Amino acid sequence: KILILDFGSQYTQLIARAVREANVYCEIVPYYKPFVFDSSIKGVILSGSPFSVNEENAPVVDVRSFNEQLPVLGVCYGAQLAAKQFGGRVEKSNKREYGRAQLQIQQQHDVLLEGISSHSQVWMSHGDTILSLPEDFEILATTDSIPVAAFRKKADDGHPLHALQFHPEVYHSTEGKKIIYNFLVNVCGCTQDWTPNAFVHEAIEAIKQQVGDGQVIMALSGGVDSTVAATLISRAIGDRLHGIFVDNGVLRKNEFQQVLDTYKEIGLNVRGVDRKQLFYDALKDKVDPEEKRKAIGKLFIDVFQQEASDLTNISFLGQGTIYPDVIESVSVHGPSATIKSHHNVGGLPEKMHLKLIEPLKYLFKDEVRKVGLELEIPHDQLFRHPFPGPGLAIRILGEVTAEKVKLLQDADDIYVRALKENKLYSSIWQAGSILLPIKSVGVMGDERTYEHTLALRAVTSVDGMTADWAHLPYDFLAHISNEIINNVRGINRVVYDISSKPPATIEWE
Ligand code: XMP
Repeated sequence: KILILDFGSQYTQLIARAVREANVYCEIVPYYKPFVFDSSIKGVILSGSPFSVNEENAPVVDVRSFNEQLPVLGVCYGAQLAAKQFGGRVEKSNKREYGRAQLQIQQQHDVLLEGISSHSQVWMSHGDTILSLPEDFEILATTDSIPVAAFRKKADDGHPLHALQFHPEVYHSTEGKKIIYNFLVNVCGCTQDWTPNAFVHEAIEAIKQQVGDGQVIMALSGGVDSTVAATLISRAIGDRLHGIFVDNGVLRKNEFQQVLDTYKEIGLNVRGVDRKQLFYDALKDKVDPEEKRKAIGKLFIDVFQQEASDLTNISFLGQGTIYPDVIESVSVHGPSATIKSHHNVGGLPEKMHLKLIEPLKYLFKDEVRKVGLELEIPHDQLFRHPFPGPGLAIRILGEVTAEKVKLLQDADDIYVRALKENKLYSSIWQAGSILLPIKSVGVMGDERTYEHTLALRAVTSVDGMTADWAHLPYDFLAHISNEIINNVRGINRVVYDISSKPPATIEWE
């Protein structure tokens, strides 16, 4: 595997994904974690960072000691850190260099840039510049504005050290993937054996080992991660996996039955429990978004525990946790460990004395989908849009009632169905409709109406952290607006949300 030392760059996860795309396994480790060498590690990549290497509190590691044991690739800050520690000079440059640049390759025969075209486009994002290289180092490439865009330690008996001032991991570095491949395969000698097929076999074996003849309980949500995790567990231990899928009354139209049917098709042992009314009771009079979230979360745990109490001899809890949920992030404000907890079903593991089974803990979302395809999970199930845990409850602004849920389900169904029919669904990251607590006047035939307004939302995004509103065709919007107003009694006006995130959010609550 490859170790990626994180110095807090916004692009660190992209490096990891690029490495994984080359079918090489890697892990992101915060720079301050003590390093334990083991023979499975074939190389180290030093990430970028928002810091300058000359700042007093800049994050540092001893690059030389890493390089004594392993091949090293420095990226941006990582390159500057290597240059500085080996005796080069790094200074603030007059202007921040940000954006596209063209590589001028100086060394045709270096293994790292082998096969890269002259004038290859790369992406720069840095404030400091390497003014002079250490002795025994040589330049591999320059650009119009900087003399050192790529360099290496001159060959000696030790391990190679390469460094890039630009970011090979971002999309705009058009041949970046090839450079990363060169580092992984030709410099570090990695074998490209990190494939969905290999992962499935290893994961199933690992689950068999861990669970033995025990039993696993798991809450399924209908989402991609829990479906893929449950399928892996089920392939390992069969019906000793006990899945529970709760109808909380705020799922999409017909979703409960459709998802249960899919689980059945996959062969999962899942019990569907309809607790709609309990959830509507808990949501009564609640208008504050966070209170709604809390009410749903708390009741969900109660329901899950109730169901679990019918089962005996359960010692494991399965979860669909994925890698971005557990990566310790390095923050500009000093080391910190932010770990999202929304996947954890409250404090259930401790409360019920259960050990966790998290087969997807080291996978990125795109890898989860690839594993899902390998497991032959139906395509529609794997490529559905993300859907929040509190469901339609946070898309009904104000108080949630069964009547409003029905209204929103019908409208949303028309919208999402049409996105699919018009082949727009897969290019959109997430789409949904929001029922606004605003009534307005309309006219239908000779009749005056006074009904709800529905907002349509569709965004493009990579990870949901930032998002742009999707530029849906006007004709499509016109068609949807008509369909909804003509078919859903209670809605007489449809609007389209044209806010990006930030400053807006994807959900309205
Ligand atoms: P926002 O609205 O923060 O949403 O831009 C980003 C992503 O997170 C989802 N989301 C949630 N998911 N529980 C969840 O499981 C929640 O309370 C929640 N709130 C937002 C949202 O759908 C989007 O994909």
